[in-house]
Amino acid sequence: MNNGFCIWLTGLSGSGKTTIATKLREYFQENRHIEIMDGDEIRKGLSSDLGFSKDDRNQHNRRVIFCSKLLARNGVIVVVALISPYRETRAFAKKEIHNTMEVFVKAPIEVCIERDPKGLYKKALAGEIKQFTGIDDPYEEPLDPDLVVETDKETVEESVNKIIQKAKELGYL
Ligand code: ADX
Repeated sequence: MNNGFCIWLTGLSGSGKTTIATKLREYFQENRHIEIMDGDEIRKGLSSDLGFSKDDRNQHNRRVIFCSKLLARNGVIVVVALISPYRETRAFAKKEIHNTMEVFVKAPIEVCIERDPKGLYKKALAGEIKQFTGIDDPYEEPLDPDLVVETDKETVEESVNKIIQKAKELGYL
């Protein structure tokens, strides 16, 4: 059986995590089992009881870590796409999930506000949504990620290629 591993994408809402995850699935799905753990999707099911306080985000992230661990140890490539704003929780993911690479999906907040794919920044800036990451809730940037992809400077293909290259360098592929 092929070894599983985890690509943990962290970054602001609108930074490009889901776009990259979708492209990674297209790349891997012919030859490998791959699962995407997308924050918005998980929050419709497994984490539907949780909101956006620090405790809730961490509980939600820990549930994803638990599931990702089970999948990765059974040969699946797991792509996690969560804001995952807290360093401590991301460090826990790296400890728990065998072979995890932390990828900082980086885009300036101004660019994310400009993109605003779900119209949520507009609402957060108008005060209609509270505790919105980057507006009135923290995002702790990774200090030592395995990789940084800068989605305001690179194409999606470039970012995806960098991730695949890094997975090879780390011996995951
Ligand atoms: S995390 O912080 O708990 O890791 P997660 O990735 O699951 O976040 O969910 C983020 C998504 O939830 C955003 O992309 C956005 O669509 C939505 N969302 C709704 N409210 C908020 C909020 N207060 N802060 C951030 N994202 C929010």
